[in-house]
Parts: sequence; C-alpha cells; structure tokens
Amino acid sequence: MFTPQVAGGDTGGVPGDAVLVEVKSQGGSVGVVWSDGLSDAVTATWLRHACRCAECCGTSGGQRRFDVAGVPAGLGLAAIRLDGSDVATEFTDGHHGTVPAAAFGRRRPRPGRPRWGAEHGDHLRSRAVGWSRDPAPFLDDLDRFGVAMVVGGPVESGSVVGFADRIGFVRETNYGRLFDVVAEPDPANLANSELGLPVHTDNPYRDPVPTVQLLHCIRSAGEGGATLLVDGFAAAERLAAREPGCFELLVGTDVPFRFADASVDLRAAAPLIALDSRGDVVAVRVNSRSMEPPDLPHGEIDRFYDAYREFVAELASPAASVELTLAPGELLAVDNRRTLHGRRAYGAGGRRWLQGCYIDVDAVRSAVLVREAASA
Ligand code: OGA
Ligand code: ZN
Ligand code: ZN
Repeated sequence: MFTPQVAGGDTGGVPGDAVLVEVKSQGGSVGVVWSDGLSDAVTATWLRHACRCAECCGTSGGQRRFDVAGVPAGLGLAAIRLDGSDVATEFTDGHHGTVPAAAFGRRRPRPGRPRWGAEHGDHLRSRAVGWSRDPAPFLDDLDRFGVAMVVGGPVESGSVVGFADRIGFVRETNYGRLFDVVAEPDPANLANSELGLPVHTDNPYRDPVPTVQLLHCIRSAGEGGATLLVDGFAAAERLAAREPGCFELLVGTDVPFRFADASVDLRAAAPLIALDSRGDVVAVRVNSRSMEPPDLPHGEIDRFYDAYREFVAELASPAASVELTLAPGELLAVDNRRTLHGRRAYGAGGRRWLQGCYIDVDAVRSAVLVREAASA
C-alpha cells in the first residue's frame, strides 16, 4: 500500500488506496498515471521544487534548503523512473532527486467537506466521543463538517481549557483564556443574558477571527437554552443557486463589525461570504449584534440589505438548522468560519452555565494529517 512520506510537512495523504503506476517524460512535461486511472502532468521545475532528497530537505523538520526561484527557467529532465512509492529523477542541471508520491497526491481532488442540514443532529450525537477517549473521530468531524461533539465530560469550571490543551492551543482574547456564558444583570455582550441569540459566527470584529470555538456545558437551563447550529457554507451555496446577484454582492462587499466596552475597541471589516481563488466558499462572517451599517454609496445601500435579508433567510430556514440541548458535561466545537451557532432564550433564574474558549483550526487539520500519515 502507498505510504505517504511523514517528514517535512510534506505529508498529504492520497485519498483511497490509489498508487502511482506510471511516470513518463514527454517533451517538457512529465505525465503521471494513478492506479485508479486518474492522470496528471507536471513540469521539471515542479519536480525540482517537490524534490525531498537529503541535499534538498535533509533536516528533521524536512524544511527546504533552497528557493525554487534560484532554479533557472527551462530546467529539463535527463531521466525519470518510478522507484517504489518515490519518483527518482535526474535533472538537466545534474541534480539527482527523489519526489515522494505524496507530493503528486496533493494534486488529486480532495475528499469533500459534505454539507449538512437539520438531519445532522442525529449524526452529531451518534458520533460524539467520550471526553477522555481518543479525540480522533471528533477531530475528523470537526474537519469535515465544521462541528463535533464530546459527551460525558466533567462539570467543573475550567475543564474546557483542559480539553482544548489536548487538541491544540488556546487562543486567548480580551474575554480571557476561557469565558463564562451566564446571565448577568447588565451584560456588555448579549451572550451573557437570557435572550435567545440568532445564529452567528463569533468575534467577527477580530482580525483574524478565532477559528474554532469550544462551548462546554456545566449547568443547563431549567427551560429553554437549546443550541442552534447551521452550516454556513451550505447556506451560502443555496443563496448562490437561488439568488446569484445577492451572493455576488455579499462576496464583494466589506462589512464593518465592532465590539467596544470599557477596555477594548475591536473593529474589522470583511465580506459576509469569503471565497478562495477557485470561487469556493471558505468563510462566512455573520453576527447581527456586532455588524455595523456598511460604508456604501447611497444607491447601493438597500441592495446590500436585500442581499443580507436573503442570506439570513437561508440561515434561518428550519431545514438548515440542527437544534440540540447540551447536557452538563457535554461540549460542542464549531469551525467558526463555517458553522454558525445560536441559542434559544432560557428561563430566568440564571442557572444555565456554559464555558467557552477558542483554539486555532490549523491544529485540528494538523492532528488529522499526522494521524493519517501514521496509519497509512
Ligand atoms: C457565545 C454563544 C451560545 C449559548 O457565547 O458565543 O453564542 O448557547 N453562546 O449560550
Ligand atoms: Zn533534491
Ligand atoms: Zn457565540
């Protein structure tokens, strides 16, 4: 079976069990064929850049010792052959190289991140992992679906940080290393009230925003206080299909967000829907509490609000949202760029007590990749 190279940050598993079965040099390009029939083509310069021989990358971290910008244009290949799971190359500059198949694997289509709606609630609960168990399935789900759940945890204050430390690094903010979500008499942030919160992403007024939020239930409300979860990517894609003009407008408009209290004045402006260079949705930023009126010319203002209304309608659709009530000891994690969270109002009495903290999502992706490489 194919074995990805582990060293050097150049891991990147090949989906399924496909292996390279053929490499051939044709003129200026190199063709590769996978066992599942997929084929691909690269150039000699690409291979030179991907080379992981001891001379190019021979440190424990596998960092590249040269800048590909220094490789003269027009590099060619003198010889190339498949050597186990590596591609052995001889370049026209005399360099003998080794390119692991994993480098080509990263060019294959990635397994998708399935979109979800209300039905995902059952999946979430059935896949929930025990607090002290191996968090691997939890990390997989967080990576694939942007949401995952842990059950059977402690109900002591501070536990959420202990959990966070097991999977990544806490991102401290002005709310502290961890924050309490409890009803307060005159809260600076409406999260600390008994009001319902429409689905939102957290801290859109930061640059960068925290990428993963953990919420741990210590005490649940007597009545109400259910959690709402919505796949923001699915909602944005539905908007693109139904109202392409609204989608484009939201993608192209920087919207200001702000949170200020006695000690901070946090501001950031960004589109509500962010795309990558291929046009895929990579982040949503939605928060009615901290969104400010956009800085648009008079004639464009109401078109923005029309588009915003359409997006919120997608987010609020009952078919889009998972509703669940966290029990004491349960924890929910969301990818804060993808999954919106909210809650139902809860009864007076102030019993409900959640604690939250943020971590960075790169630690999640890293954990998934390290485990994939170790088990390949
Ligand atoms: C928050 C929040 C949800 C809840 O604190 O960011 O959205 O269930 N809380 O109280
Ligand atoms: Zn080399
Ligand atoms: Zn929130």
